[in-house]
Amino acid sequence: MSEAVLQCIKTRRVVREMTDEPVTREQIEAILEAARWAPSGGNLRPNRYIVIEDAETRRLVRLVSPGMFQEAPVLILICTNMDVVAEQQVPPSDRALLIDVGTAAQTMMLAAHALGLASGPVTSYSKEAIKVILNLPAGYSPEMIICVGRRAPDARPGMRAFKRITWRDLTHWERFT
Ligand SMILES: Cc1cc2nc3c(=O)[nH]c(=O)nc-3n(C[C@H](O)[C@H](O)[C@H](O)COP(=O)(O)O)c2cc1C
Repeated sequence: MSEAVLQCIKTRRVVREMTDEPVTREQIEAILEAARWAPSGGNLRPNRYIVIEDAETRRLVRLVSPGMFQEAPVLILICTNMDVVAEQQVPPSDRALLIDVGTAAQTMMLAAHALGLASGPVTSYSKEAIKVILNLPAGYSPEMIICVGRRAPDARPGMRAFKRITWRDLTHWERFT
């Protein structure tokens, strides 16, 4: 395992101010290809991705997404295909489904960072409005949007941490006494 992977993990930050410089098709495909390798509960692979480049569609998505501060040139919507979930008789409330969204999201954001691109996840949006804007199939549940672009040169730093934390603050060894 290379040090570069650890550096990529440690230096990725959410970027909320982006330029309108386009992202190439090859870069988008590289991010999607990386997500295909993300771990998936039971190897069910229920995630489906919608890539949005069209300016008007992005504008509409932003209108219904109060948590989207970026004007990113590319949006990748991570959906859970509930038809796959039903076919495999997985309960719709199975927590692995949302965990799958998280593994795909982080994999995409690390891939974007490795390609020199900026990214930011958004969950604050109207799911119902997104379904209408994108004319999603009935079984598609829109779970998270990954904004992809290039960091604006004068972008402000991300949200201030409540408290500087280390892994030690987050970890217990063995059982609680
Ligand atoms: C489940 C989840 C939902 C998030 N939703 C949003 C969001 O709606 N809008 C946003 O700007 N950032 C969102 N974020 C990004 C977090 O605010 C960000 O990861 C956190 O502030 C730490 O910043 P860092 O990833 O740059 O270290 C979300 C992150 C996660 C994991």
